[in-house]
Amino acid sequence: MTTPLVDRTEAARAKALAWIQQGSKRLLIGGQWVTAASGKSFEVINPATEQLLCHVAEADSADVDAAVLAARKAFEASSWAAMSPHTRTRSLLRIADTIEAHIDELAAIESLDNGMPLWFAQGAVAATVDIFRYYAGWCTKVLGTTIPSDGSTLTYTLREPLGVCGQVIPWNVPVLMAAIKFANALCCGNTVILKPAELACLSSLRLAELVQETDLPPGVINVLPGFGPTAGAALAQHLDVDKIAFTGSTAVGKQIVRDATSNLKKVTLELGGKAPNVVFADADIEKAVQAAVKTFCSNSGQVCSAGTRLFVQESIHEQVAERVAQVAATWKVGDPFAADTRLGPLISARQRDRVREYIGVGQEGGAALRLGGNAWNGPGYFVEPTVFDNVKNNMRIAQEEIFGPVLSIIPFKNEDDAVLQGNDTTYGLSAAVWTKDVARAHKVVKALKAGRLWINTFGESDPAMAFGGYKQSGWGREFGQESIDAYTQTKSVMVRF
Ligand code: NAI
Ligand code: MG
Repeated sequence: MTTPLVDRTEAARAKALAWIQQGSKRLLIGGQWVTAASGKSFEVINPATEQLLCHVAEADSADVDAAVLAARKAFEASSWAAMSPHTRTRSLLRIADTIEAHIDELAAIESLDNGMPLWFAQGAVAATVDIFRYYAGWCTKVLGTTIPSDGSTLTYTLREPLGVCGQVIPWNVPVLMAAIKFANALCCGNTVILKPAELACLSSLRLAELVQETDLPPGVINVLPGFGPTAGAALAQHLDVDKIAFTGSTAVGKQIVRDATSNLKKVTLELGGKAPNVVFADADIEKAVQAAVKTFCSNSGQVCSAGTRLFVQESIHEQVAERVAQVAATWKVGDPFAADTRLGPLISARQRDRVREYIGVGQEGGAALRLGGNAWNGPGYFVEPTVFDNVKNNMRIAQEEIFGPVLSIIPFKNEDDAVLQGNDTTYGLSAAVWTKDVARAHKVVKALKAGRLWINTFGESDPAMAFGGYKQSGWGREFGQESIDAYTQTKSVMVRF
């Protein structure tokens, strides 16, 4: 018999709260859970209630130094980097199994800390299981090449891990971000120091505990909750860190690049987006509308790949705009643990105020408010789905990443116009095209400057499908072959016979 949904939700929340309240939340360094060298800690707030959940040890540069030492030691020890790739595959598969056995608990921790609806968090945790299994398969497939020669030499290449990898992740879907970063680095034989975001770090700590329950050698993963300008910057600047991988805002991404020049560590960046979602008159309009609403409302719009610019061909513009507003109005805002909630709160009061300010900017700029526009004063940092119509692509609300449930609908004339306006942005993370015309679909996809494209769908993911940005949306790719390249380096060897 399956457990009724309500009981399952209650059980998950109770389990998550028990974990949150049990013991102090500390840093993971070299296999030990330790307090910060400074003795400092910071508050973790539930954004749905604004109540204190717990305190977490606050890492700064002294803890970064200790974690780098531990990660270096673990990397140099033959127990990890030099382990049989088959053994490493088994390790990652065991991690996947362990996470799978804790989906509801991890999801509830994520919901309490980040505010996302429980159903959304469950999907995110389930995706992390797939990601670990995907990268588990890569361990045995990190291949070098053999280079043609005249027979008097043998020349070949080896792909080797980079070493100690610093990883700084954001607060929007932390469990997924942590999993992507861990799995990608570990399958290639690196060791890692993860700095989760100060606004939502609990799922990373629980994930690390679960990983520790498997047989990973101490120091292979280290986790340092803390703030960006202190712990994050120390990691980016550190002379003995070989790579820094960052997901977050474009502004901080640029700072990371500057900091990484200290020792020319390798850098990969997954940054913001302002994705064009282009609907032609011949599209399946109902499907396009449902997807358009889902992409800007999911996780309350706090998604880098969200389709926040909805380009609609003029002849169907009125019809689509009306239907989008209708459907978005049914996306209920509320308690992340209620079964009918589609949008939880935003992450913080600051983020709520930021989004509120953008809603004001849209109205002052002359965009037509079709739906919503309200942000609660609390408790909880809630903002309702907000739809602006007749937006001009050069308005601030169409150019800047808002990271809230705010959609800009922009009419367009024809293919060329859609491409021109769609590409008129500093970002290039994702984009979608809706049409029944196969030739047009591929032509427009080819012309749009973004790293991940969809035709007649939006936001679907597969860990085998590369993810990353054109233009100021980032450097490098996660998932796929390129992500393996990004965590390894080439050594070329010549043998003379
Ligand atoms: P943020 O970029 O400051 O935070 C992301 C991570 O970077 C956090 O772990 C933070 O501690 C760290 N960080 C901050 N400053 C750092 C530094 N100097 N060195 C190293 N690490 C540092 O994002 P924030 O301020 O919380 O959000 C502001 C806006 O950024 C959002 O409204 C959104 O537009 C964008 N953003 C985009 C994300 C994405 O995935 N594309 C994720 C988070 C935010
Ligand atoms: Mg929080």
